[in-house]
Amino acid sequence: MRADRLPLVIDTDPGVDDAIAILAALAAPALDLRALTVVSGNAALETGVANAGGLLAFAGRDVPVHAGATRPLLRSILRGKYHGPSGMGPLALPPANRAPDPEHAVAFLVRSLREAARPGARRLTICAIGPLTNLALAIAQDPAVVAGIDRIVLMGGGFRTGGNRTPAAEFNILADPHAAAIVLGSGAPIVMAPLDVTQRAMATPARVAKLRALGGRYAVAVADLLDFFDRRDPDRYGSMGGPLHDPCTILYLLQPELFTARSAHVEICHDAGPAFGQTLADWWNLTDREPNAEILVDVDADGFFDRLGALLQAL
Ligand code: RIB
Ligand code: CA
Repeated sequence: MRADRLPLVIDTDPGVDDAIAILAALAAPALDLRALTVVSGNAALETGVANAGGLLAFAGRDVPVHAGATRPLLRSILRGKYHGPSGMGPLALPPANRAPDPEHAVAFLVRSLREAARPGARRLTICAIGPLTNLALAIAQDPAVVAGIDRIVLMGGGFRTGGNRTPAAEFNILADPHAAAIVLGSGAPIVMAPLDVTQRAMATPARVAKLRALGGRYAVAVADLLDFFDRRDPDRYGSMGGPLHDPCTILYLLQPELFTARSAHVEICHDAGPAFGQTLADWWNLTDREPNAEILVDVDADGFFDRLGALLQAL
């Protein structure tokens, strides 16, 4: 194993955009994807676990898959809207090459992060691209696991954009705001990829056509996924196409210079009412609370899609 590869775990609710993020991570020599931990979110846990295994078989890679939380900590279950009945849109995945690992995702996270916290061990990077239930449970079980985290790079929240499932709340946070509050309050170094940046990574028809023109099994499959993911709402997004959410976390790890970030203290609204699941950033330090997140607020979208295309060609 190359010593400079980044030890990574992706916590996911696969999911069309999750699939693209996972394929990008598998393609990147700089990333050492140790495991996929699956959480209830876009789809039910068992569907997500099957999709994770099928994606790895599709990519011809052997990475452990750990099943995690079947539901949010407190609120009712909320499902994604744009992933189709299978959770994978039009993509017909092969069956998994191996059964999910018998170790529960939370137990895996606690064990792995404790090991990563030991003197001389390499810290783990966690890409969290679904509801934060698994991570919150691991932190609640043993807050000391935070010492084993290099960074949590999460897709979630919406600041100046408002939400995408309610006027206030983005799906990953809304689906488990109590878990999000635990993670944001954990003291772990956090990079957030909110709707503010993902809605600027628009998979426009021209960008999708460019991916498809690259050819190859994976670029064509991702182009098919993106066609399915098209929101067909140019009034809202400024173009046809769909915001490419989850891959922002992977592309940030690989090429952070594509992104613009701002530090702020972020709190999660989890009281009942219209703000339930909202993410609030104290941009101007009005509360004198130390920043707890680097928030990605802009991206070089053409550079993003060019790099994504190159990764898919390399897979
Ligand atoms: O709001 C976008 C997020 O919700 C993405 O992670 C998508 O996969 C869904 O989980
Ligand atoms: Ca997701």
